[in-house]
Amino acid sequence: MRYGYFDDNRKEYVITDPRTPLPWINYLGSDDFFRLISNTAGGYCFYKDANLLRMTRYRYNSDRPDSNGHYFYIKDGNKIWNPGWQPTQTALAGYSCRHGLGYTIIEGRRNGICAKQEVFVPRGENCEVTRITLSNETYKDKELDLFSYVEFCFWNALEDMSNFQRNYSIGEVEVIGSDIYHKSEFRERRRHYAVFSVNKPVAGFDTDRTSFLGAYNGPSFPEAVIRGESKNSIAHGWAPIGSHHLTCTLKPQESVSYIFVLAYCETGKEDKFEAPGVINKKPAQEVLAKFRTDEQVDQALEELRAHWEKLLSVYHVESDDEVLNRTANIWNQYQCMTTFNMSRSASYYESGLGRGMGFRDSCQDILGFVHMIPDKARERILDIANTQFPDGSAYHQYQPLTKRGNTGLGSGFNDDPLWLIAAVAAYLRETGDYTILDELCDFNNNPETKAPLLEHLKRSFTFTATHLGPHGLPLIGRADWNDCLNLNCFSEEPGESFQITGPSEGPVAESVFIGGMFVKYGREYEEILRHVGREEEADEAEHTVQQMEKTVLDAGWDGEWFVRAYDAAKKPVGSHVCEEGKIYIEPQGMCVMAGIGLESGEAVKALESAQRYLECDYGLVVLNPAYTSYHLELGEITSYPPGYKENAGVFCHNNPWVIIAETMLGHGDRAFDLMKKICPTYLEPISEIHKTEPYVYCQMVSGKDAPVQGEGKNSWLTGTASWGFAMLSQYILGIRPEMDGLCIDPCIPAACKGFTCTRKFRGSEYHITVKNPNGVQKGIASMTVNGNKLDGNVIPVPAAGSVCEVEVVMG
Ligand code: BGC
Ligand code: NOJ
Repeated sequence: MRYGYFDDNRKEYVITDPRTPLPWINYLGSDDFFRLISNTAGGYCFYKDANLLRMTRYRYNSDRPDSNGHYFYIKDGNKIWNPGWQPTQTALAGYSCRHGLGYTIIEGRRNGICAKQEVFVPRGENCEVTRITLSNETYKDKELDLFSYVEFCFWNALEDMSNFQRNYSIGEVEVIGSDIYHKSEFRERRRHYAVFSVNKPVAGFDTDRTSFLGAYNGPSFPEAVIRGESKNSIAHGWAPIGSHHLTCTLKPQESVSYIFVLAYCETGKEDKFEAPGVINKKPAQEVLAKFRTDEQVDQALEELRAHWEKLLSVYHVESDDEVLNRTANIWNQYQCMTTFNMSRSASYYESGLGRGMGFRDSCQDILGFVHMIPDKARERILDIANTQFPDGSAYHQYQPLTKRGNTGLGSGFNDDPLWLIAAVAAYLRETGDYTILDELCDFNNNPETKAPLLEHLKRSFTFTATHLGPHGLPLIGRADWNDCLNLNCFSEEPGESFQITGPSEGPVAESVFIGGMFVKYGREYEEILRHVGREEEADEAEHTVQQMEKTVLDAGWDGEWFVRAYDAAKKPVGSHVCEEGKIYIEPQGMCVMAGIGLESGEAVKALESAQRYLECDYGLVVLNPAYTSYHLELGEITSYPPGYKENAGVFCHNNPWVIIAETMLGHGDRAFDLMKKICPTYLEPISEIHKTEPYVYCQMVSGKDAPVQGEGKNSWLTGTASWGFAMLSQYILGIRPEMDGLCIDPCIPAACKGFTCTRKFRGSEYHITVKNPNGVQKGIASMTVNGNKLDGNVIPVPAAGSVCEVEVVMG
């Protein structure tokens, strides 16, 4: 069952039933100011950091899904309603929510009135603009009241929801005309406030929550709206809100628009106040002046549209499969931008309180984002490298505001260092900008210990190469990619963090997965070294990698598949000798991606085993059989009930690894089938089962051991976005940046007749036509560039500004 449809022309998903299985959200803003908005106008906004600078309040895990948002109420006679249905839930005669690229348009109709709510964050501004357009579609005059409503948050989101003995006394506002200023804590150390304004004179306002809502009504029945009159309340403590009351009389077929701006404003240290206790309103007035008229709003929307057109023009495919096209051209790339911006911090499942930027997460996010804005990727890579420890190990997370490593969690996740190589290699392949390797980066943010980025990569490589266990495989530390496989943790106390209990470095527990990673990214490191002429170091790296490859094939091979790890007692994990958790997905995907066993046959076997034991209707589960009880020696992975999360859920992130591996073996049909099982756009027709948004990947889908299978959870912020895009764009469609140029290497279903793709790459534009006359799955019979036959399938980089017409015949 569907709850809407894709409108590909407008690059929107249009929700036509507000009762989606879960709130279906969008992200507005792509620099510093962000707003999460659901299909019923729920959500909140923040500046830079969802934990430290949250502007509006949200209630996670409420009894009614999606509690709180930036709401607009219409009072028509004695009926009150919202264009987005919530929170009054008054029945609507018409409803749609168009989630577009950086904007959302919600439209509700009732009793001859159409109310359109257009919401976006303008480029380069720290504010949310909402334009409400009311139209009288009847042939009678209509008298209407419009009320706005936002609930302010006291900036620090955790304090805001926990320290009520203080919070009920700190709220302060100022109101001048149609401008409502939220200035709690401004009197002391803050130099920022929020302003909420509308471009027309108001009939009244409220800034005190209880005055507006009534003590026990809640946002579903606000007293002021029911009465049709604001109380002009000024908040002194308690809960400050912003609400405007506007009135209008609309003639038949007449429309009126109101432009609301909710902005984050900063002052200098010296000019905080314009008079004792009165905040400096200049920064607010500057931004408000930019959005006073419809023309200004239209222009800002146009700029936003043009911005996205440009970003998405870098990679554009046309095939017979419209679902594939919309995935590759619009939604997958859009999600990659969001994961790059947010890491795993703020979504409807990540509360914005806990996680900063994950070292491994952010590095992987770059894989799907680097082609869009390489400069931002560059900056991010350098930020990440600056947090690395001198021995090459890494903080597991860092804070976006300070850009410093997070000491609470510390280090010891031994896959982390290698992801830095992955990110840098992806950046180099995309841009060819080797100057990044000379950039001086601190160790542990200590400017006295700077070294070129290339040296940081060397330390990543060396850290892994020198932290080996009894089988010669890399030590796992606290965990590798699978944060829940905690082999050195041994936690027996409820509530103890699996992530930081036990020693960060066990001397014994090893990871085959990191072994596979080391082969894959060690080779990429070697390639970088060769490119910068460091042949000797490259030879050494090559030798070390070869050793590891042998070790993985030896100690890491179980007979039918790759072993997952060895625990602290040197016992195998993910082996036929285990009672549960006999086979895991991660080493199958990673080792084959690394090219291990391609020649000697293990790769094929590993993928066959993955299919045989891990596959279900919704993709490949993490492991099989699921763990049915808690294992002290394995940690959090066994804390989950069977079929969920890391304990045999379909963890979407690692499915693309297997799919990429399948393409390496030339299995185009298989790769495509598997992709369709996890890719949300293909799951749109079963939205009632899948539950999360059909336009973005979710982290996890309940697997074959779960009582209810196929339920998606934790949408948006997942490494699946970037790996999903790499899988589809670079390995299935096969348009892949390499160090020496653009490689064309499709691996598609035999029935696919071909496709075309426009790719902008290193300053030139490629128009690629792939034909598959003989129905093969992989392989190129011939290829021409601007009419000239090409040997091989890597197009050397032409002079910038070139246009390359590329004809590819598979066979
Ligand atoms: C989750 C993991 C996550 C980890 C770190 C665990 O509870 O299951 O997916 O990586 O927390 O935050
Ligand atoms: C989610 C985390 O963000 C990611 O870093 C980790 O690799 C996966 N969970 C698997 O545990």
